[in-house]
Amino acid sequence: MQLIDGKATAAQIKAEIAEEVKQIVENGGKRPHLAAILVGHDGGSETYVRNKVLACEACGFKSTLLRFEDTISEAELLAEVDKLNRDEDVDGFIVQLPLPKHISEQKVIEAIDYRKDVDGFHPINVGRMAIGLPCYISATPKGILELLRRYHIETSGRKCVILGRSNIVGKPMAQLMMQKQYGDATVTVCHSHSRDLKKECQEADIIIAAIGQPNFVTADMVKEGATVIDVGTTRVPDATKKSGFRLNGDVKFDEVAPKCAYITPVPGGVGPMTICMLMKNTLSAGKKEFYQ
Ligand code: GUN
Repeated sequence: MQLIDGKATAAQIKAEIAEEVKQIVENGGKRPHLAAILVGHDGGSETYVRNKVLACEACGFKSTLLRFEDTISEAELLAEVDKLNRDEDVDGFIVQLPLPKHISEQKVIEAIDYRKDVDGFHPINVGRMAIGLPCYISATPKGILELLRRYHIETSGRKCVILGRSNIVGKPMAQLMMQKQYGDATVTVCHSHSRDLKKECQEADIIIAAIGQPNFVTADMVKEGATVIDVGTTRVPDATKKSGFRLNGDVKFDEVAPKCAYITPVPGGVGPMTICMLMKNTLSAGKKEFYQ
């Protein structure tokens, strides 16, 4: 069994990005600039956004954090999005989700200029991704592809089971794993109403678990020699931690790991790669790689 070290891989990629940014700036180019909008004080969102700002520093990017109370109206937030759309210095920006209930997330996502949508959530980017055109690909599936690639894990023609059908992970992951230019795999998507989920998993060469249920994937569901990618990051109370909680994956790691060829840990697997891929997308935005 080989552990897939997302933390080390992410650190290496960030160093590669920092080197490229250094070259760009030395050659008189513009330093990439990422802006983030954070609404309210959700603990998870605070942590994610803080880590995104730190990653920008590590990559040599300029970053701007715009904070608003959760009393902000939808119209006011849409006006802030519009300001960032028009700000020529901002190459890309994100609106951290979830948003308060009185604001339509879909409306906000669609208000973002798709050319600055480094999260890859805008329907234009989702659609272009689905038909294999250049675009911003959302960070978690992009990070998983990068891990598979850097660990030389064969995906072409392999059977890949994806657990979960969210817009952020399950759906784009399935699209990418099936496409010839990315995964080239035979893809099955399982969800809460799948009839024979266990049997599907038992036949899989690669399992990507993104359902948000701690310890859902058990050893009896996994084929000997399979690769298991754990996207779960559920916060569970843990009195031994300073924060009072720990992150729990969707995979029962201790019993599944011995059966695997490769497995990602939680934390330190997919998580660090997600932020790193946002940095890659921001670099692409700075270079106007996909859109003018
Ligand atoms: N909330 C959880 N994950 C994400 C993400 O990748 N982007 C944004 N904007 N919000 C999130």
